[in-house]
Amino acid sequence: MDQMHRDDPAEMERMRASARACAHRHAYHMMPPQGWMNDPNGFIFFRGRYHLFYQHYPYAPKWGPMHWGHSVSGDLLRWEDLPVALTPDRPYDANGCFSGSSIVHQDTLYVFYTGNAADGRQTQCLALSRDGVHFHKHEGNPVIAGPPETVNPQQFRDPYVFRREGRFYMIAGAEGRDHRGQVIVYTSDDLLHWDYLHSIADGDDSMGYMWECPNLLFFQDRAVLIVSPQGMAKQPLFDSSGDTGYFVGRFDPVTGGYTHGPFHKMDYGFDFYAAQTTADASGRYLLSAWMSTWATPVPTDACQWAGSLILPREMRLKDDRLTFHPVRELAQALTPVTTVSGVICGGLSPMHGRSCRLQIIAEDADFTIRLFCSADGQEYTALSYCASAHTLSLDLSRSGEAARGTQSVALPEAPDSVTLDICLDNSSLEVFIGDGAYVMTARVFPGPASDAIRFIGSALFRRLSLWKVRIPDA
Ligand code: FRU
Repeated sequence: MDQMHRDDPAEMERMRASARACAHRHAYHMMPPQGWMNDPNGFIFFRGRYHLFYQHYPYAPKWGPMHWGHSVSGDLLRWEDLPVALTPDRPYDANGCFSGSSIVHQDTLYVFYTGNAADGRQTQCLALSRDGVHFHKHEGNPVIAGPPETVNPQQFRDPYVFRREGRFYMIAGAEGRDHRGQVIVYTSDDLLHWDYLHSIADGDDSMGYMWECPNLLFFQDRAVLIVSPQGMAKQPLFDSSGDTGYFVGRFDPVTGGYTHGPFHKMDYGFDFYAAQTTADASGRYLLSAWMSTWATPVPTDACQWAGSLILPREMRLKDDRLTFHPVRELAQALTPVTTVSGVICGGLSPMHGRSCRLQIIAEDADFTIRLFCSADGQEYTALSYCASAHTLSLDLSRSGEAARGTQSVALPEAPDSVTLDICLDNSSLEVFIGDGAYVMTARVFPGPASDAIRFIGSALFRRLSLWKVRIPDA
């Protein structure tokens, strides 16, 4: 069936048309034109545009032999689909071109990815492009033919390449022979020949058996290591299936050594995994991630697509914690709907919006906001603040198709006020809390007419603003 689609442009166009007509389609989040998407890959600014690649199976809305899909954008809001960049067509990547990263060197885009061979062995491979559109695989592939003895050769993937004080480094996710997740580091002078150094971080038994998709970011003398552990121990109430998180530490460019503090989760909602970062020309760090997990339901498969990416987030480091903020470009796409000040939450009339941004500054008292509400009030996604526990809860149990449970986040101290910045996009919500140290992300699948926003509770809203998000024409 999938093979048939591959050779049938009319069938591919039928899939695309079905995805275009889907009520769950996003207006301003990146999604595949058709077929399957998981991790973002190779995020980079090159030749005047942001390039964002992704794990992609073009021929069906399910995971299959991985390709690298490719989109470009000038503003991180409007994405233009380009031809598939990498296809699994060599013995070393016959079972998939897995996740990886990009770097620009000598005016050429170097894309590093994991070749997944038919026997499941994983090696690190390189593809190059001068124009950022057409890629050719390096003749010397794989550039790293296997991990050190200490690592399972079938669990060695997701290269992230960076430059530090004139040398190149590659970190990769790995499962140690002790069945614990770890990140290992290599170094190179030319991006083609790589020498193994050592492991830079590893977990204990509570931190899972494999660490995927590492990234290393530099904020002056601090180095932030992001990983996506598989098989992490769950905590009741606050668990979620996507455990992507980070350590703050220091990287020594002479030895390639790394020391770090505790692990922090990056998102407290349901659907956030496999983070991918880049620093752009202005020096800001941008974050993308799969707005899903392996456990997320995908009812959009009925319209021939599955998976999407978060709205890119700007990241800052404050007091050894990352903070996350919707990219500033979003402001260009906002049309004001309403602003009110000094009102009791429960006294507000219902508002409407499915692809919108809602900002609220509330006093520290209980309130609930119901999003994506149906006209009969039976379907909704509830966001509730509990002042006595300082918790914010996201309840998806009545959110529509493929409804799920509740996730909560405990804010560390009694806040003076509760600030929420909420981005909705037809089948997603991203809730930025306070100064951005906490974010909750989820996919929801409400009925196509469920667009009301309702307010419950006695908390005073010091201010509330609602905007529609409308993507400016090209
Ligand atoms: C993370 C991941 C990566 C791998 C890719 C395969 O979601 O498992 O480790 O490279 O997906 O699609």
